[in-house]
Amino acid sequence: MNAMQTLQQYIDESKRIVFFGGAGVSTESGIKDFRGVDGLYHLKYKYNPETILSRSFFLGHTDEFFEFYQDKIVQPTLNAAPNIAHKTLAKLEDMGKLTAVITQNIDGLHQMAGSRNVLELHGSIHRNYCMNCGEKYSLDAVSNADGIPRCHCGGIIRPDVVLYEEPLDDVVITKTVQAINNADLLIVGGTSLTVYPAAGFLDFYNGSKLVVINLDNTSYDSKAALTISGKIGEVLGHIQL
Ligand code: OAD
Repeated sequence: MNAMQTLQQYIDESKRIVFFGGAGVSTESGIKDFRGVDGLYHLKYKYNPETILSRSFFLGHTDEFFEFYQDKIVQPTLNAAPNIAHKTLAKLEDMGKLTAVITQNIDGLHQMAGSRNVLELHGSIHRNYCMNCGEKYSLDAVSNADGIPRCHCGGIIRPDVVLYEEPLDDVVITKTVQAINNADLLIVGGTSLTVYPAAGFLDFYNGSKLVVINLDNTSYDSKAALTISGKIGEVLGHIQL
């Protein structure tokens, strides 16, 4: 049996599939990943993007943070649509076979494809709030801002995304661990698995069917029952549902 047939069989016989993904899930929607060959981390900046996306940089260089965030994170996602990977995962949930999509992405494309139980480990660009009065704002407040987005109270509107040096949300962590722990099939795709604690949640998987679908090798390949080197949209697009 070849790898695609094995994946098909795994999906056919599973009832509690969990998908764990990252930026590579959205590259086929035209959004650059971070560490892939065309990723944001290979662009030349005054500061390294991991520095720019940190809490201390956000607080100390708020204008430069928003310049980068607006250009490289927000604007590229505004016209992006879900690809076949997002859509296949939404369909599997509709069929009652997939219990959760766990994502490190902040672009909201899984929900746009129709997925309902999406655990966003790193938050979402679609949720924003005033750091002064707490008022909530949609993405428009940030995408339409010229410079630092401001609340009517004068406070800075910040995205509800997890920056480096910031903790992940406890409720999201608990649900993530539960979902992975109860999964009969864990499909991991489009992630370098280099960012912690996110990648470490995979260790809560108890089953024997860990599948990794990625363009580059990852540190979990050796633990996987099946690894497929390819584009996640092309791979999931071949699954018969
Ligand atoms: P990375 O950019 O680190 O990894 C993306 C992975 O997806 C790479 O291994 C690519 O080879 C692979 N890839 C790209 N396109 C693909 C495709 N079409 N099909 C299959 N694989 C593909 O992205 P993440 O692992 O998501 O955090 O990065 C984790 C975190 O680092 C992000 O959430 C973000 C970033 O800094 C924060 O900003 C807090």
